[in-house]
Amino acid sequence: MPLQKVRLEPFDAGLHTQCLRDWLRRPHVLRWWGEYEPPFDDQSWFTRETHAVIVANGDPVGYLCWQRLPQDELAAAGLTDLPKDLVDIDILIGESSHIGRGIGPGALGLLLERLQADPSASMAGVATSISNEHAIRAFEKAGFRLFREFQDPEHGRCRYMVTEVGGVADTGL
Ligand SMILES: CC(C)(COP(=O)(O)OP(=O)(O)OC[C@H]1O[C@@H](n2cnc3c(N)ncnc32)[C@H](O)[C@@H]1OP(=O)(O)O)[C@@H](O)C(=O)NCCC(=O)NCCS
Repeated sequence: MPLQKVRLEPFDAGLHTQCLRDWLRRPHVLRWWGEYEPPFDDQSWFTRETHAVIVANGDPVGYLCWQRLPQDELAAAGLTDLPKDLVDIDILIGESSHIGRGIGPGALGLLLERLQADPSASMAGVATSISNEHAIRAFEKAGFRLFREFQDPEHGRCRYMVTEVGGVADTGL
């Protein structure tokens, strides 16, 4: 299997909107992301500070977004013990031919490097269903460890996984 050279690019509406629309409809993504549609008409949504396209060997193959989680969302999932400055990451490899080639962990590694330089974030995290063994494996390879399991209102029993990044933990205490 050829080595994949992975990089992150800013989301470009002209180049990437149709790709992302297609990826979100693929069964292997729908299964874990559910019926999700970002606000494609609002280009200010896709800022380079919180969104990126995953490019492998020059081709766009996936998408990453990251954000601080609103307290009401954390409360709904019973995850209020996460640090308040945690950056929550979502990822998909949309091109099914590119699954299982190490691109997800590679892309997460690049994002974590970026977050290492952010003194306002002490921890990064990812959530997925306990049944999504491939994602759990990919997250472990990127350096994430189990924080704990929780009950997601939409996705059922899930795992929250974390890793330290740049800042000093803000526990809100
Ligand atoms: C989860 C995801 C981001 C992982 O990225 P990836 O680049 O496929 O990750 P890896 O290449 O490290 O593969 C992870 C594991 O998937 C499994 N895998 C290998 N080939 C596979 C294939 N063809 N199809 C599915 N899974 C495969 C392997 O168990 C692999 O672990 P291993 O290399 O230790 O054996 C990606 O698979 C994906 O986008 N899936 C759909 C959306 C999703 O689940 N998002 C995350 C949770 S919401």
